Amino acid sequence: MSGPKTVFRCSKCDAQFPRWEGRCRECGSWDTLSAHQVLSKKEGTAKVSNKAVTFSSLRANDGDAKRLSTGSSEFDRVLGGGIVPGALILLGGNPGVGKSTLLLQIASRMAGLNIIQPVLYVSGEESGEQIRLRLDRLEARPDNLHFLGDSTIPSITAAMTETSPQLVIIDSLQTIRSVNGTTAGRPGELRDALEALMELAKTTNVPIVIVGHVTKGGIVAGPKLLEHLVDAVLYFDASEEGEHRVLYATKNRFGGITEVGIWRMEGKGLIEMANPAAAFLNKKRPLAPGTIILPALKGSRVFLVEVQALVAKTRFTHPQRRTTGFDLNRLQLLIAVLTKHLGLPLAYRDVHLNIVGGLKVTEPAADLAVALAIVSATQNSTLPHDMIACGELGLHGELRSVTELSRRIETAARVSFRQAVIPEQKFETKTKNFLVHQADNIKTAVEVAFPQRTH
Ligand code: TYD
Ligand code: MG
Repeated sequence: MSGPKTVFRCSKCDAQFPRWEGRCRECGSWDTLSAHQVLSKKEGTAKVSNKAVTFSSLRANDGDAKRLSTGSSEFDRVLGGGIVPGALILLGGNPGVGKSTLLLQIASRMAGLNIIQPVLYVSGEESGEQIRLRLDRLEARPDNLHFLGDSTIPSITAAMTETSPQLVIIDSLQTIRSVNGTTAGRPGELRDALEALMELAKTTNVPIVIVGHVTKGGIVAGPKLLEHLVDAVLYFDASEEGEHRVLYATKNRFGGITEVGIWRMEGKGLIEMANPAAAFLNKKRPLAPGTIILPALKGSRVFLVEVQALVAKTRFTHPQRRTTGFDLNRLQLLIAVLTKHLGLPLAYRDVHLNIVGGLKVTEPAADLAVALAIVSATQNSTLPHDMIACGELGLHGELRSVTELSRRIETAARVSFRQAVIPEQKFETKTKNFLVHQADNIKTAVEVAFPQRTH
């Protein structure tokens, strides 16, 4: 393999193709491809280090000991226990959700934790004065928090060389320019800038966090391919009620993507929640058919989420099935199980399923709560207000055990739930005054969940 390669790049969406075509296959634009010479950086470095070595001669540098705490246990949790030196992290979210506030709080905390090395805050979005006002509002203004109001790559590089920071924050990706004078925000420009920042992070071993705005489609603005150029992609989201903020990862090269971080937005910035289990519960939850609470496991914590089902006679030839926060295929499967094993008349009815609050539930343990919500909606009968349910449902209607059952029950009991429908499995709990209904199949589960009805 040698020499520069020619690729054809679309000027509109930045997709790359090995040969010229009249129309971009990615975005459908006509006559937008042009030739570019690509000097592979990897080839350059490969020449010096292309000798095979033994693993034992390599030093592991992803040890947890090397992670830096961001001063926020919620942020650390989502990253997998802190920030890895040299990591390039993209933080996405809707405008106004609180990305700048979150990062400014982290910047000032880290500046306070390590007073020898500064934190460099680069903003092309707001002026230094505006950020200072915000810092005053957050009641934080450590001396070693440096501000750079010029988001071109050469300026960022120069500021990093001058200040040797412990962390760099760039707000935002859309305002970065790789060189002076070029238009910010163009896809090709964003890619070049990200590549330059990745190299900067890796050569200096300084972590860099970049804000990216989310477009209507839900991805960080710019083509999806940008997400492949960073080590981690985090999203900051508001809960449906608007009070809570949720941080989760969709990509994390140095940790998992199951943990979520929860904050509350208040007058003095984002406050970490000591006990976020009930963060997604609506306090004024109506007692209505089609609703039950699921103790959902997200990462290492249990969250209580409301599962809502709406079942109505269809106006179409094929009944509609819609979900929010739950897998559609899984819903179809559960509907088939309910039709077959309970004789539920769903063939001509639309089924809508919603996980209230914006959390995405992917674990099979949610099956029973979803099934009971559908039964409740179909029969127009309410489930007890203080009841939770969890359990995996098999194709034969059998209920299977779930992980962490004791913790799920204990968390629910702490938030004043008083009964649970669960699979027949062994578990231990110190919870008192809590009624446990165990069932080994969906039919029995329905009988115990709706005690007032006879089946
Ligand atoms: P911001 O961090 O500017 O959002 P983003 O960078 O994602 O666009 O947050 C803006 C919102 O947060 C704004 O509506 C005001 C609110 N806010 C508070 O409620 N309390 C605070 O202490 C701060 C700084 C902002
Ligand atoms: Mg902002």
